[in-house]
Amino acid sequence: MLMSLTRRRCLQTLLTFGGLALGGCATRPRHSTYEYELILKPQSISLIPGTSTPAWTFNGTSPGPTLRLRQNHPVRILVRNELPEPTTIHWHGIRLNNAADGVPGLTQDPIPPGGAFVYEFTCPDAGTFWYHPHFNSLEQLGRGLVGLLIVEEENPVFFHQDLSLALKDWHLNADGSFAPFTSHRAAARAGTLGNHPTVNGKTSERLTLTAGSVVRLRIANMDNTRVFNIGADLPAMVIAVEGNPLPRPIPLESHPLGAGMRVDLALQVPQTPGVYQILDRKGRFAFSLCELEVVPGQVPPLPMPSLPPNPVPALDLANAERIPLSFEWAGALSPVGEDGKADPVFWTINKRAWAEHNHQHLPDPLATLRMGRTYIFELYNATPHPHPIHLHGFTFTVLSVNQQMLEPYHTDTILLGKNQRAEVAIVADNPGDWMFHCHVIEHLETGLMGYIRVT
Ligand code: C2O
Ligand code: CU
Ligand code: CU
Repeated sequence: MLMSLTRRRCLQTLLTFGGLALGGCATRPRHSTYEYELILKPQSISLIPGTSTPAWTFNGTSPGPTLRLRQNHPVRILVRNELPEPTTIHWHGIRLNNAADGVPGLTQDPIPPGGAFVYEFTCPDAGTFWYHPHFNSLEQLGRGLVGLLIVEEENPVFFHQDLSLALKDWHLNADGSFAPFTSHRAAARAGTLGNHPTVNGKTSERLTLTAGSVVRLRIANMDNTRVFNIGADLPAMVIAVEGNPLPRPIPLESHPLGAGMRVDLALQVPQTPGVYQILDRKGRFAFSLCELEVVPGQVPPLPMPSLPPNPVPALDLANAERIPLSFEWAGALSPVGEDGKADPVFWTINKRAWAEHNHQHLPDPLATLRMGRTYIFELYNATPHPHPIHLHGFTFTVLSVNQQMLEPYHTDTILLGKNQRAEVAIVADNPGDWMFHCHVIEHLETGLMGYIRVT
């Protein structure tokens, strides 16, 4: 009789999860806790009509289900691994506790085939994020393991519609089987582009919008390699980048989106019905990513909504310590690992390369930061190729690019072009070991990865 609902649910949970240990379960308030279950499993999907592709999926689909969480509300996500190899899941862009960050060897042991892991965290920031494995990433993301994670504002912000585009290219042969995800030649350059582009898992995507409405369109680049330059042939404002509202929205012209990056647009849908496009701009050319069909209809008038800023801690720039981090070409060293496989290294951070096959021997951190202090990272891309540079667990503030001060903005990933420099700052307020890497998956797997320690 006295058994609380909480306790009963806990027992049920234990039964459902087959004896998986759930620490602290009985003490957690249940009412505001979201529950999700993600099952990673092989599943044939059809990308090229008449063929099937042996994808790896979340709950049977790629992209996986869109997770909708709420700002400041705790979430528990059960991840079950039904793949033939280990995995972990990373919640890209979320400022969460280190134990939930999903990095094998750094924050958790890999989840073995047949195993499960419960991720528990609370998102302090609202916005557009995503999730993906952090184990054998080239193949696991390449085979389809990507998904969108939307954190809704604590106080909802109203748009007439809230839509999203998940961008991912596939590496396919004509019969639907997978073509190689990488070659040494491409890994040492800008990476291997896919040959079968998809939007929301489809070869062509068309959204229906109402004339005169204001639509929030979240665009996520979940590709391993590609850089998009997002444009549109209807009026649109850039309202957030990598989940973080811009202090002042700017009209969309061409917004660069490297691997792992996101942009939120507010589309000002014209009164004239017709078909408009979201574009990928390439110099003088533009390619359609998605068609927007505008149909007549009645919508209540809506002034351009404004997104509340995320609670990123205030920087103490006057007392900040500077940390140079430079990204370089390492040449084609190919030491042969214990398993006899060549382990090519093409890239370094501060002259050091991450040895992917060496999780047992963790290298030292790139830098050790003290809790509460402000740090300025001086980023330098000393290579001819673009690198979307990403830090886990933090939102950084971009202060300058190529010595030009700009209106500071917040992000978790910055796209550095050839020979570009940038100054970005963080407050070291989240203890743990946090990955810092390029999000071109072939680059992180051939050296361009390290971690930052906060104590
Ligand atoms: Cu999407 Cu280690 O990152
Ligand atoms: Cu991340
Ligand atoms: Cu890179």
